[in-house]
Amino acid sequence: MEEIAMPETLAFDIYGTLVDPLKMEEKLEPFAGEKAGHLAKLWREKQLEYTFRRALMRRYEDFGVCTRQALAFATQSVGLELSREDERNLISAYQSLPAFEDALPGLRALRSQGHEMSAFSNGVEESARKVLEQAGLFEYLNTVISADEVKSFKPDPEVYRHACERLGGAPEEVWLVSSNPFDVIGAKSFGMRAAWVRRDPKTLLDPWDIEPDLVVRDLLHLAKELG
Ligand code: LAC
Repeated sequence: MEEIAMPETLAFDIYGTLVDPLKMEEKLEPFAGEKAGHLAKLWREKQLEYTFRRALMRRYEDFGVCTRQALAFATQSVGLELSREDERNLISAYQSLPAFEDALPGLRALRSQGHEMSAFSNGVEESARKVLEQAGLFEYLNTVISADEVKSFKPDPEVYRHACERLGGAPEEVWLVSSNPFDVIGAKSFGMRAAWVRRDPKTLLDPWDIEPDLVVRDLLHLAKELG
């Protein structure tokens, strides 16, 4: 007899987990040439840094603002001046970031196992939904839970509390699925379960003695583990 998977409640991080922000390198290439890879990385790092600092300082501006300001910092740091129009185009390209290769088949496999699946992101709901729709992933998810609803950012425990409340589960019954080590540690610290999607074996988890419940290579591997 085929074994039926126990349905779990899964909350998927979006940027870096379902879609790849570093793919902005291709869009930056016409402006930055061989510095495009460095720029894409710096853009992402600054974007996250701004969310952390704004949450800590209680100076909330939404993820879109952090993304825009991070792009301005990154381009200035390499002496690049973008026109308003180029800047707008890059920000709008951010809404069509490509999915990781395993994301679609992984979500499909997990969905067919009967899990309750939602997206859970620092991004504002509308942009997060758009990016998921563009990437063809939205149909596998019930809803988008956004940190914007509590005007803070992961890893503020309030954000994880909000996600668990919306999903109607005790923290220890809700899984965060994320590639971002700070997110995995944030969710575990709050009391949730966490699966770390470690596509690149060179990625390290910060040595804080807070470990994920599962480490998987990709979302297909997660489906195997939960199936
Ligand atoms: C998100 C950021 C953390 O999607 O990547 O929430």
